[in-house]
Amino acid sequence: MGYRVVMVDLKEDVDDRAREISNNTGSFCIGRVTDVSDYLAVKNLASSLDDAENFSKLDVIVNNAGVNLDSLFENMSYEQWDRVLKVDLYSMFNVTKNLLPKMIENGHGSIVNISSMSWMGNVGQANYAAAKAGVIGLTKTLSKELARHKIRVNAICPGFIDTPMTRAVPEKYRARFIERIPLRRVGEPLDVANLVGFLVSEEAAYITGEVINVSGGLVM
Ligand SMILES: NC(=O)c1ccc[n+]([C@@H]2O[C@H](COP(=O)([O-])OP(=O)(O)OC[C@H]3O[C@@H](n4cnc5c(N)ncnc54)[C@H](O)[C@@H]3O)[C@@H](O)[C@H]2O)c1
Repeated sequence: MGYRVVMVDLKEDVDDRAREISNNTGSFCIGRVTDVSDYLAVKNLASSLDDAENFSKLDVIVNNAGVNLDSLFENMSYEQWDRVLKVDLYSMFNVTKNLLPKMIENGHGSIVNISSMSWMGNVGQANYAAAKAGVIGLTKTLSKELARHKIRVNAICPGFIDTPMTRAVPEKYRARFIERIPLRRVGEPLDVANLVGFLVSEEAAYITGEVINVSGGLVM
């Protein structure tokens, strides 16, 4: 879409992956290793971008990092609760808070927050559901607060998407899941990415505060 992209991940090879994307697509993409659950680390990242070439302007933020550490609530440890809330919800505060001034200065922008259909409640995911429901409250509030700066804020709730997060699900559960999906297949990362692309584009200029499912009809 012509954006200059900074990809952020905990993984040490993020810059290599970013360069691979650059090489394959001809777009400009760099990677930075940062723990988005760590406020100070994100603050440092934001200041370092001020100095990086051609990153004075910010059009788009996609808050996508997430982990799940599932367990029934009775067995859930404080550490499981804390980690999931920090990565899946606090990260949205950390990133948006530290980068927003640049977007406000820019005079327009679009933020897309990745929630999950689990926000409605899912057995074994009290931590994840609480974080993902929080993402929706944050999205709707920011959409109201930031409209005056011409910044739109929307959330996406993916259903069952084929990524490393879901590859750990045993085959028999996966098959049972697919039976419940009206489109009878798991989603691909591109199914979600295509909606991100639309939401940040000018075609979505009148859409803000929305929560959109990408679930093959599993959630309506
Ligand atoms: N895969 C699904 O079916 C599904 C469904 C609903 C929602 N989601 C959401 O989609 C988003 C992407 O998930 P995915 O399926 O691609 O998972 P994934 O595990 O494949 O990718 C998540 C990425 O986040 C990174 N990450 C984790 N903690 C981080 C941190 N503290 N700082 C920086 N990076 C960190 C990981 O290294 C990883 O590259 C998540 O928010 C997830 O909750 C996924």
